[in-house]
Amino acid sequence: KENIYILAIESSCDDTSAAVMCNTTRLSNVVATQKIHEEYGGVVPELASRAHQQNIVPVVHQALDKANIDKKQLSAIAFTRGPGLMGSLLVGTSFAKSMALGLQIPLIEVNHMQAHILAHFIEEEGSESPSFPFLALTISGGHTQVVLVKDYLDMEVLGETLDDAVGEAFDKSAKILGLPYPGGPLVDKYARLGNPDAFQFPKPKVEGLNFSFSGLKTSVLYFIQRERKKDPDFVETHLNDICASIQKTIVNILMDKLKAAVKQTGITQVAIGGGVSANSGIRKALQEAEEDYGWKTYIPKFEYCTDNAAMIGIVGYLKYRMGDFSDQSITARARYVI
Ligand code: KG4
Ligand code: ZN
Repeated sequence: KENIYILAIESSCDDTSAAVMCNTTRLSNVVATQKIHEEYGGVVPELASRAHQQNIVPVVHQALDKANIDKKQLSAIAFTRGPGLMGSLLVGTSFAKSMALGLQIPLIEVNHMQAHILAHFIEEEGSESPSFPFLALTISGGHTQVVLVKDYLDMEVLGETLDDAVGEAFDKSAKILGLPYPGGPLVDKYARLGNPDAFQFPKPKVEGLNFSFSGLKTSVLYFIQRERKKDPDFVETHLNDICASIQKTIVNILMDKLKAAVKQTGITQVAIGGGVSANSGIRKALQEAEEDYGWKTYIPKFEYCTDNAAMIGIVGYLKYRMGDFSDQSITARARYVI
């Protein structure tokens, strides 16, 4: 069978990424992370779309160069249609549309959240893909969802956050502790050195498989304010224990819902995706669940956890095989359910 080469473009938030796939294998996956947002303590949409405009051409060229592919060899262009920041999505969408038009090849729209899940099907040495049906937990700075994955493009959201995403819970807690943005990886780093039982934070009571994280941020804020009144150096002297306790609370919230989802569906294959999958606490909890409850868990390579175009490319490949193409009238969608 003839090889299928997909150029994929991802620009939903603050990473500009382009990848080239040959069937299910990634030939290149270039990511330009926007540093500009650090000084603002969060992603500034207007700055993000401007940075995408600056990055997109060099990033696409690099992806083609690294893959050692001429654009004339491409079979199709896949792009993130949504969900995400409108201004950011528009950059990738317009670029993909004009490139497909110029090359006279098919255009394929991709849902970013489906891509986080289907990243598990990128073929790598030593990697193993889940079989259907399985449960997916997508945890990032923008999303928190438990999804029942019945087939490649047949998914059902069983639960999601009612307010903040889990990545925001990490980042906002980190901000309260005076850590730079994005604080999630730093909370993880300090948590490894601390005692997770040092402090108690309440777990929210949320119906069904939905999540809520805004209460945690508030309780961290009040707790820190109270302790700082007694001891102005409280955060500095207890940073590891505070981070370990926050992380333990977040991991427990996620694991409680995952256990409930396994109970509800009877499915014990669990795959995770999204930037927070890098967290050592959640990784450890999943490994323990394999031993304690007999689950089979799938954790993608870090490169495919955070926002990247290879995950858009694998969906592009799957849709190409199904002949599921988009036409030139397609528009970006800030809200786009699975
Ligand atoms: O998937 P991603 O790169 O972008 C979004 O779509 O949001 O996820 C970024 C999020 C940020 O909130 C970041 O703090 C969090 O993932 N994150 C972590 C870790 N690494 C990244 N949170 C906790 N522990 C980590 N090790
Ligand atoms: Zn994402």
